[in-house]
Amino acid sequence: EKEATLAIIKPDGVLGNHTDAIKATILQSGFKISREKIIQLDKDSASSFYAEHSTKRFFDSLVKYVTSGPVLVMVLEKENAISDWRALIGPTDGSKAKITHPNSIRAMCGTDVEKNCIHGSDSPQSAQREISFFFDTSTSQWFALPL
Ligand code: CMP
Repeated sequence: EKEATLAIIKPDGVLGNHTDAIKATILQSGFKISREKIIQLDKDSASSFYAEHSTKRFFDSLVKYVTSGPVLVMVLEKENAISDWRALIGPTDGSKAKITHPNSIRAMCGTDVEKNCIHGSDSPQSAQREISFFFDTSTSQWFALPL
């Protein structure tokens, strides 16, 4: 089934000049980039996006990290986009990804469990919430009826 998922190149990915390599990998892996924009998150928007982590010990640090520079937000579409994108980005901890998933995106540009360079929605529910968090989905049927 055709799906849409949300990808974010986090500030370490953008500022580390990993954007072109990541987008090449995305396209080579059969995803279509249907929407994209570069934005600077502020404390409120980052806290709201990561609300599910608000009670975690790493929350304040996470908000500082994702607001430390620009992020590139993209909607990716293909069959099984949600789980395939999670597989392509690799495990959360970039330092471990280099050993266990050497071909993953986090192996390429992730540093540690926080500065992991890239985001992917973890479920259909998250994908719907996260896509509508960043993009206006009200004027098109593309999400309900992916191209
Ligand atoms: P992601 O899984 O995309 O979304 C939650 C983010 O919180 C995660 O990427 C990391 O950037 C960060 N994170 C997750 N676990 C930890 C941790 N143990 N310590 C610090 N940051 C973390």
